[in-house]
Parts: sequence; C-alpha cells; structure tokens
Amino acid sequence: MAHPRRKTIIAGNWKMNKTRGEAQTLIKALASGLDGQKDLPEVLVFPPFTALDTASKAVAGAPIEVGAQNMDYRDAGAFTGEISPAMLVDLGLKYVLIGHSERRQFFGETNQTVPLKVKAALDNGLTPIICVGELLDERENNLTDPVVKRQVGAAVNGLTPEEVNRVVFAYEPVWAIGTGKVCEAKEAARVAQQIRNTLRQFMPAPHDPENVSVLYGGSVTAANAEEILGQEPVDGALVGGASLKADEFLTIIKSTKKVGII
Ligand code: PGA
Repeated sequence: MAHPRRKTIIAGNWKMNKTRGEAQTLIKALASGLDGQKDLPEVLVFPPFTALDTASKAVAGAPIEVGAQNMDYRDAGAFTGEISPAMLVDLGLKYVLIGHSERRQFFGETNQTVPLKVKAALDNGLTPIICVGELLDERENNLTDPVVKRQVGAAVNGLTPEEVNRVVFAYEPVWAIGTGKVCEAKEAARVAQQIRNTLRQFMPAPHDPENVSVLYGGSVTAANAEEILGQEPVDGALVGGASLKADEFLTIIKSTKKVGII
C-alpha cells in the first residue's frame, strides 16, 4: 500500500553512460511508453552532465524529470571540473543524487562533504536524493545498522526539521550495486524503516520522519522490482543498469501500480 504522505519515485541513474543522441533516444522511448498512462510514480532520470541539457529538453511534455548525479557544494569559483548547484538550477533541474557509493568509493565523497552538498542542494531549491549503504565486509561484520545510521545522521546534521522533510533517501547496499546480488526484500524494508527511525531525532514532533521517502537501489531489475516495491517501507527504486533499457525501466515504473504503491 502507498503511504499517504510519501512520494513514490522510480529513478534511473545512468552513471557514465549515454551520449546526447543516445539520451534523446532513450527519453523518447520512455516518453512514448508512459504516454497516456495514469497513476504514475515520479519518474526521474539522472544522465551524465554532458547530456543534462539535451535530456531536460527531451522530457518536455512527458511525466519525467531530470536530475544530476553529483554537484559541488560551493556557489562558484576556482574549482576545476566541478559543477555548482546554480548551474543545475539553470538547466531547470529539480533533483540531485548526493553521496552515491561510487562517489564515496572512487571520488573522495565522505560523511563530511555529503552534508555540505545536501544543504547546498536545499538552499538552491533542489531535492537531494541521499544515497547510503554498507560495504560487503561491513555487512558481514554486522555493521550495517551503525554504518547506515552514521551516514544518515551525518547527511542531515545541522538541517532544520523542515529541511529534513524535503530530502529523499536511497538505501543502496554497496555489495548489491551492479553485482546482480539483490538485498532480500525484507531486509531492504527493515533498513529503509531504520533510516526513518534515525531521522526521528532530527525531526521532533510535530514533524514526522514517516513522511520521508526512502528508495531501495542495488541490482533492481524488471524481474525483482515487484518484490522489493511491495515492501511498505520502500517508496521506490534507484535503478542503475536496468534504467539504460527503455523496456526494462518502463516495466519497473509500471510495477509500482501493480503492487499498489501509487
Ligand atoms: P544497479 O545500480 O541497479 O546497476 O545495481 C544502482 C545504483 O548504483 O544506483
């Protein structure tokens, strides 16, 4: 069942894939697959920076929003290779991924930089989708809960409860990303709920962490989407590999209706 106050989101993280022409082709196929469909979740795509402008024009009139995979937290200046929040807003974007595990593993993203980016996103009117999740050896050493709690706490530290209310989380166990190993649906649901429980200390009453959407990501495919999305604490999916193929991504989008979460 859909939670009455949480957004259901199916997001495609394209990572370092798709030229502008390929982006346009994929978006066209998604738009025609969604044309005339009722009861859709929020459908988001996260192309690489070079295809953002093309993609945001290509989604015009379609029920699809475009977001960026990363950004810097500073406004402007001598930061070679970086992209500012204002540059994303200038493209008409509304969403940005923050703290994806590939950024954490390969590009120096930490629990110190994530909150700076989250705050900068919110200050610029962007919705951050904050990615958290444990490494395989952390899971094997029973450290999933403390690791995820620490990442969640760090990400929202210093935000007002109203600001925390505007973020979206994605639970992405690192060992499940791009590996074909999916987290068991019940376990994904347990951690998703744990994320909301952790938010409680940052959102005292009358604010309610039950209003914060938590997605699952890590080897989501058309074949396993229904099982994962059928878990009440999970409000959608952040999809990597399977979002690069229109048919498969469309099936994942439509499975939200099948399991009744929209
Ligand atoms: P995957 O990636 O679906 O290819 O495992 C998910 C992600 O990294 O967001």
